[in-house]
Amino acid sequence: MSFYSVDQSTPRLHRSELAVPGSRPELFEKASTSKADVVFLDCEDAVAPDDKVQARLNIIKSLNEMNWGNKTMMVRINGLDTHYMYRDVVDIVEACPRLDMLLIPKVGVPQDIYALDMLCTQIEDSLGRDKRLGFEVLIETALGMANVEAIAQSSKRLEAMSFGVADYAASTRARTTVIGGVNADSVVLADKDLDGNRNSFWTDPWHAAQTRMMVACRAYGLRPIDGPFGDFGDKDGYLSAAKRCAVLGFEGKWAIHPSQIELANSVFTPSDEEVNKAKRIIDAMEEASKDGKGAVSLDGRLRDIASIRMAESVITKSKLCKSYG
Ligand code: COA
Ligand code: MG
Repeated sequence: MSFYSVDQSTPRLHRSELAVPGSRPELFEKASTSKADVVFLDCEDAVAPDDKVQARLNIIKSLNEMNWGNKTMMVRINGLDTHYMYRDVVDIVEACPRLDMLLIPKVGVPQDIYALDMLCTQIEDSLGRDKRLGFEVLIETALGMANVEAIAQSSKRLEAMSFGVADYAASTRARTTVIGGVNADSVVLADKDLDGNRNSFWTDPWHAAQTRMMVACRAYGLRPIDGPFGDFGDKDGYLSAAKRCAVLGFEGKWAIHPSQIELANSVFTPSDEEVNKAKRIIDAMEEASKDGKGAVSLDGRLRDIASIRMAESVITKSKLCKSYG
């Protein structure tokens, strides 16, 4: 290990993150009784300019009057380049002791976070607010991705980053208009086989960007979260996208529709089979260490001390899921 130590962010269950437009209070009840680990009430892009003020009022009322259980409650504020943002922060943070986190869209440079940290600190100090707000940032522009490592180190309030695929595609001028998922032009055409046939293999156009953000998060103790999958009728497509990023190291994924919540929870909860396998690895390694060995064969595969760390990560996640019931 490096001599450099990194603090891990406040641990929270973050398998599913439900997006709820602040201008549609009729959706709040369903969100509050859902199984989403994190809910964000949106002031930003799901809310039309004429509805911004009313959305803010709806959010304040619901955070104070509804029972959100043990969910992590977050508000997505408007961007720092808009005049809505300061009132989102001041009005909502001042009025809502229940609020846990702010979701900050289109972050481009670490100074964006510095400015918000200062504003939140002033509000908390003036109110004597005990609970310190956490931040999640959206990496969804080329500028944000170019500065992702610096942004990841910009404030102790940071807990998580989401990859916002739709705005990222717009910012990088990717040739697509769908929100997340794969693209028929993103394929590799193989050479001809002996019969002269050519296979084509789909590739994930978001893989490189997701990986870059995931590494910045994991390096600096933050949770990497994958953003929206717009085609909410396509469960298999959602599951496949969620599993691909779970394999990379992501902690959870957005749900833009209630039907996606259980899908995210299922993908990001270690299965009994995974947990049992992890326990067997740890047992086998304990036995091996008694004989002075650092590597063993289990089920015909190499297991070594890194295997213990991987197995422990599965068990820790499983315990966290169980502790939330
Ligand atoms: N949160 C809570 N409840 C939701 C919901 C959400 N995000 N999206 C839909 N629902 C509710 C509906 O109100 C409906 O409830 P009912 O059965 O009690 O009537 C039920 O779930 C089924 O909804 P459905 O009719 O299939 O969807 P819709 O046509 O009402 O809405 C969307 C579809 C996409 C417009 C809606 O899901 C939505 O606004 N999602 C969030 C979009 C967003 O926040 N985007 C910004 C981030 S990318
Ligand atoms: Mg966006």
